[in-house]
Amino acid sequence: MAPLVETSSLTKHYGSIKAVDGLNLKMNPGEVYGFLGPNGSGKSTTILMLLGMTEPTSGTVSVAGHDPTRDPTAVKRQVGYLPEAVGFYPDLTGRRNLLYTAELNGISKSDAEHKVEEVLHMVQLEEAGHRPAGQYSRGMRQRLGLADVLLKEPKLVILDDPTLGLDPAGIQWLLGLIEEMAKQKGIAVFLSSHQLHEVQRICDRVGIMSRGKMVLEGTVSDLTAAQESGGYEVYLEVEKSSKSLIGALSEIKSVKNVNANKTKITISGTEDCRHQVSTIVFEQKVRMLELRTSNRSLEEIYLRYFQEPADGEG
Ligand SMILES: Nc1ncnc2c1ncn2[C@@H]1O[C@H](COP(=O)(O)OP(=O)(O)OP(=O)(O)O)[C@@H](O)[C@H]1O
Ligand SMILES: [Mg+2]
Repeated sequence: MAPLVETSSLTKHYGSIKAVDGLNLKMNPGEVYGFLGPNGSGKSTTILMLLGMTEPTSGTVSVAGHDPTRDPTAVKRQVGYLPEAVGFYPDLTGRRNLLYTAELNGISKSDAEHKVEEVLHMVQLEEAGHRPAGQYSRGMRQRLGLADVLLKEPKLVILDDPTLGLDPAGIQWLLGLIEEMAKQKGIAVFLSSHQLHEVQRICDRVGIMSRGKMVLEGTVSDLTAAQESGGYEVYLEVEKSSKSLIGALSEIKSVKNVNANKTKITISGTEDCRHQVSTIVFEQKVRMLELRTSNRSLEEIYLRYFQEPADGEG
């Protein structure tokens, strides 16, 4: 299976800023790929290169079998793009805006009307479709943006930070819609975000960017050793360990594994069991030196990179 997106040593410099620095990326057809990273880590710059909207300083890029640098039109025919800031004609209704997109994409008038209704239905804007797009809320604009992208029946959609500025319910709704679109229509999704915890549940794989470089990539469960072992890891250090202590810890309902290295004990299970652990330690009259969740969750791995300011910022 040829990759849908492939970049090799892709690099973009803006003066002395290395916005993207030697990026190697591969994405398969039908995949939902989460492109994560803090502000300024190079996500939007990468996306612009995937679409042929900015030229790489060096390296190569291929999208749906085309080189966007040389043939951006061929790429745009097969790829839907939702930019960071979606632009519509504010005086035209949502429906009119979509009909206009259909026309631009060479969809015949007779097809356009029912296709527009279909995508408006998907994003639940049938009612609001008659209102001017300039009156839409941020969430409605994002939904209209998705409808616009779906009209083209693309193989791949590239969404640049689609959840930005939405409230928690709006985020869940939009992610659900993206997931459904990927599953039901077999559309591959390249989704950038700076909020890992928000998007990870719908991503087949994630790549984490820091200062223009990919620092981690894989399935969410691959990247999270703790998740494979069931979810949570709790780290306990006591003054003196014993068989009965280890035994009692193993008896906690949510616990799957207890690993003791003398007085340093790692407890993995499906829930955060710090409360039960402290009760047991207290009951056994053991002196506790430390009790914390172990920092192996993907979120925490991500936060380590997140907290570093990117080049040229902070
Ligand atoms: N047109 C430009 N001219 C000069 N520098 C730029 C330009 N576009 C981006 N940069 C710089 O490149 C780096 C990467 O920016 P980019 O917009 O790709 O980050 P991002 O990961 O999309 O960030 P955000 O999460 O804030 O959207 C930043 O340091 C930014 O200042
Ligand atoms: Mg960006």
